[in-house]
Amino acid sequence: MINLKQAILQGIPSEIPTKRNINTSVSHAPNRKNILNKEEKKLAIRNALRYFPEHMHTVLAPEFAKELKTYGRIYMYRFMPDYKIKARHLEEFPHKSKQAAALQMMLSNNLDEAIAQHPEELITYGGNGSVFQNWAQYLICMQYLAEMNDEQTLVLYSGHPMGLFPSHKDAPRVVVTNGMMIPNYSKPDDWEKFNALGVTQYGQMTAGSFMYIGPQGIVHGTNITLLNAARKIDARAEDLSGKIFITAGLGGMSGAQPKAGVIAKGICIVAEINPQATYKRHEQGWVDEVYKDLDKLLDRAITARTNKEAVSIAYDGNIVDLWERVVERNIHIEIGSDQTSLHNPWAGGYYPVGMSYDDANEMIVNNPEKFKKEVQKTLIRHTNAINTLSERGMYFFDYGNAFLLEASRANADILKPNGDFKYPSYVQDIMGPMCFDYGFGPFRWVCASNDAKDLVITDRIACEVLEKLMHDSPDEIKLQMSDNINWIKAAGENKMVVGSQARILYADSEGRMKIAEAFNNAIADGTLSAPVVLGRDHHDVSGTDSPFRETSNIYDGSQYTADMAIQNVIGDSFRGATWVSIHNGGGVGWGEVINGGFGMLIDGSDDSDRKLKSMLFWDVNNGISRRSWARNKEANFAIKRAMKMNPDLKVTMPNSADDSLINSLDL
Ligand SMILES: NC(=O)c1ccc[n+]([C@@H]2O[C@H](COP(=O)([O-])OP(=O)(O)OC[C@H]3O[C@@H](n4cnc5c(N)ncnc54)[C@H](O)[C@@H]3O)[C@@H](O)[C@H]2O)c1
Repeated sequence: MINLKQAILQGIPSEIPTKRNINTSVSHAPNRKNILNKEEKKLAIRNALRYFPEHMHTVLAPEFAKELKTYGRIYMYRFMPDYKIKARHLEEFPHKSKQAAALQMMLSNNLDEAIAQHPEELITYGGNGSVFQNWAQYLICMQYLAEMNDEQTLVLYSGHPMGLFPSHKDAPRVVVTNGMMIPNYSKPDDWEKFNALGVTQYGQMTAGSFMYIGPQGIVHGTNITLLNAARKIDARAEDLSGKIFITAGLGGMSGAQPKAGVIAKGICIVAEINPQATYKRHEQGWVDEVYKDLDKLLDRAITARTNKEAVSIAYDGNIVDLWERVVERNIHIEIGSDQTSLHNPWAGGYYPVGMSYDDANEMIVNNPEKFKKEVQKTLIRHTNAINTLSERGMYFFDYGNAFLLEASRANADILKPNGDFKYPSYVQDIMGPMCFDYGFGPFRWVCASNDAKDLVITDRIACEVLEKLMHDSPDEIKLQMSDNINWIKAAGENKMVVGSQARILYADSEGRMKIAEAFNNAIADGTLSAPVVLGRDHHDVSGTDSPFRETSNIYDGSQYTADMAIQNVIGDSFRGATWVSIHNGGGVGWGEVINGGFGMLIDGSDDSDRKLKSMLFWDVNNGISRRSWARNKEANFAIKRAMKMNPDLKVTMPNSADDSLINSLDL
């Protein structure tokens, strides 16, 4: 029997462990392209050997050379631990600091093989969203977390544990940076090269910040998006019932689409090219039915529409084949989108039509130039089919996966004459004005007891808090409040927990603070059996600067700046966050976005009460103030409300210039 505590405390073993074969029953990252020259390969191996005592080098050097040659990266498979990595009760992790134990619980959840997309390559989702670059980093990080006290801070540089530094009890226990580059070195190939050298990683959003809670995290946001998309195209619609939504992707986040579509009471068709992903989601109950035959699938969907049946249907194949068949058969589709990983188009995020998944993966390694051309050709066909269906009345939106961006780069017919994209992003049309500008975003919590009973109690508490707040909510936010209350009421029934006992619930700053305060009181009086970790997705009001997604509804030119995300993380770090993280990349691609987040352990103490109020208020209102300064009227409303709630908040308000004055200028 392996002793978990001893194994974690040991860090890098003093004797070289026996060699392990990779586990063929889990999904593996595609092999990365061979990008380093001979000298750079030597450097990558020297870099990897830094983690190990010299007596291991003669064995490890050729082994790492082989990994680099085969996989394009050095993962150090030999050092994968023997124990099962998963979320456990916080007391099961060795620790001197409860906060550090909470971090072990959270990062273990991100690497749980039931959760992670490619667990042995330490990738949680999005094809390249890494928790660590290699197993040595994991082992050292866990050891530091087990040893550290509440007056130290662990510093992580793109997964590399730089060390424990003296700090103080109110400081974050961990500060994470992922993929921070000198701006000129932030092209996709820079990620390939510097990741292969072992000096940076793509942390996605919740992967490298230890805040991933399985596809549930995104179900709620997708559900809100689909409800509002249906209301947008049909003023009488309460939800998605009787409407067909077609999209692609059954991966880490995209796998939430069928469930969210069914919760919104609609018919959701999802194409997925990787059969392993399709059948995994089917087995997990996240998608109801799978078809390989397109005509049978479409007939089934039409019957479901007639019967107003809520059902999710997977197409085991390429999304472009599906769209083109819909065009041929002239079927009316109400809503369309796409969630392939186009933020990562050349390394397995998007698969070309007309070839199998395996053949495509081989081409990525053996003929990357041809692969790129095939992707571009596919994007052109993909866009043509969507254009035809949109002309016939479909509402299409970009789902934050860089579809519009990559289609335009492939010279697909995706631009209007004025150079704007033909289609909005879901943030421009839905999420921005209806949620983020009012402060609503993907708040979440994880029960550190890892006990389902605690989660039920937190659901009840959160629901009571929101119902009470809704009473006095202004009309502008009543619909959002009621969608969120409906969500939390049904959350348990919808059985979305995979891994840690976690819940997502969209809430505004007042909602987040009041829910967190109620949890803290419930921990103090014993209603909850253990502390709770608070957090959020980076995809939120203030966390992310991303001109094609989170900040795509900012129109004052500042959508290309990243001050908000940086300010947010700095601000969270001195207001009580247990850990903070700031990433390059995430969602739309390396160099395209800066995003940050936090985690906070609350333990029922007065300290927790002070920290949660101070930090959550800032964490939301920072973004609202920026959105208001960009002249977004919903944010203007929300920040005025926040200033009334807390007189210490004083935000610079924008004045509006008269359009006729501006238009009369001689420019
Ligand atoms: N839903 C949201 O609110 C939201 C939020 C953030 C990001 N996203 C974006 O959505 C994308 C998907 O995220 P993910 O975590 O699911 O990534 P993922 O890589 O785990 O899943 C994408 C899936 O698409 C499949 N795929 C690729 N090309 C295909 C094709 N041509 N036809 C059919 N299937 C194909 C892949 O096999 C893969 O399983 C990312 O770019 C992500 O940033 C969405």
